[in-house]
Amino acid sequence: MIRVLGINGSPRKDGNTVLMIQSVLESARNEGADTEIVHLADYPVSHCLGCYSKDEKLCNPEVFREMLPGIYKKLVESHAYVFGTPVYWFSVSGLMKNFIDLLTALENIEKILENKVAGCVVSMEEDGAVNTASQIIVPLNFMGILIPPFAITYSRGDLFSSENQDTLIELETIGINLVKFAKILNEN
Ligand SMILES: Cc1cc2nc3c(=O)[nH]c(=O)nc-3n(C[C@H](O)[C@H](O)[C@H](O)COP(=O)(O)O)c2cc1C
Repeated sequence: MIRVLGINGSPRKDGNTVLMIQSVLESARNEGADTEIVHLADYPVSHCLGCYSKDEKLCNPEVFREMLPGIYKKLVESHAYVFGTPVYWFSVSGLMKNFIDLLTALENIEKILENKVAGCVVSMEEDGAVNTASQIIVPLNFMGILIPPFAITYSRGDLFSSENQDTLIELETIGINLVKFAKILNEN
């Protein structure tokens, strides 16, 4: 069975970002997937120590596993991810940025995330969503992660307001495409 992991980069566990992630996961479940969500705020997501810059061998999957065992297991066991972040000053949240930096340990020595599949959802009030999404999607792709078509969307303010009607459909599409692509990769 395809497993899809939602990764919430908002410190708020009941905010707009979570609603978006949940919507993608619901769609993935309708496609037969097993789903789970992790709130980065529940884990000791510290900043990257830059070991890679000193000695490449200090930055490896074992270091990540020791630091964040719960998340490591979920990342490895999942076939697809939906990364969610609020826009914080035209960028990802600090939590999400630290997390992406720590993922370096999963690509530096071994490409642990290669051929995983990911989408991205961004919540904002005014502006900055596309820039923010690219700050997630570009590093993930450099880590070997596949990004399906129509795998990125954003909402402004309350997710269920009339302004976000298209977003609701796009969230559903992300769920469908994550599962579809994960299945294709799994079968091959
Ligand atoms: C520190 C901080 C910076 C923010 N910067 C922006 C911004 O640059 N652009 C924007 O549209 N919204 C900005 N916001 C608003 C949040 O992106 C928005 O409220 C989002 O929906 C919050 O998501 P959440 O409910 O999942 O926490 C900012 C909020 C905070 C707390």
